[in-house]
Amino acid sequence: MPDKRMEVARGVREPETVAAVQPREIRIHVNGEWRSFRLESDLSPATTLSYVLREKLGFTGLKVSCDEGACGACTVIQDGKAVLSCMVLAVEADGHDVLTIEGLPQDDPVVVAFAEQCEPGYGTAMQCGYCTPGFVMTARALLNENPTPTLAEVKDALAGNICRCGCYAGIAQAVLRAAEKMKARRSGT
Ligand code: FES
Ligand code: FES
Repeated sequence: MPDKRMEVARGVREPETVAAVQPREIRIHVNGEWRSFRLESDLSPATTLSYVLREKLGFTGLKVSCDEGACGACTVIQDGKAVLSCMVLAVEADGHDVLTIEGLPQDDPVVVAFAEQCEPGYGTAMQCGYCTPGFVMTARALLNENPTPTLAEVKDALAGNICRCGCYAGIAQAVLRAAEKMKARRSGT
């Protein structure tokens, strides 16, 4: 059996490309279900996680606005951490757990708090709602790690998300109210 390295060195064989050694099947655990993709036919090595979630799987809650990691609209939770899905390659998500806003229960305290913070005269957390899924997922990840954040910690966690309608005060209040709701659930009140 000829040594492949010797054949490459002698110019008889081309070196194996990066694509050739990447896995042929990509499996991503999305909202509790494993989804599989073929690397050559379904995805390219440059396909982003945001593209897969929106265009391949139809999870259109996340938005792709800047597509360069600057606005937070595409935020999802990967393995418990908020990530910008436009900055994650699908191949990097292979084998990982991904949660989009569609995967949250309707009675999730963050979802409920954001919905309640829409009441007129209440200091709204959303106007057009374009940024909302990204803020909700960032807040969800924060409260998973820190269930009782201060206002300063909330603002710090949300610093990477942009709301063009300027609802920042209402959004921060919604996150604090979500934390209160979680505390009430823990204590059974
Ligand atoms: S679309 Fe991903 S950060 Fe803006
Ligand atoms: S509510 Fe419109 S961008 Fe935030």
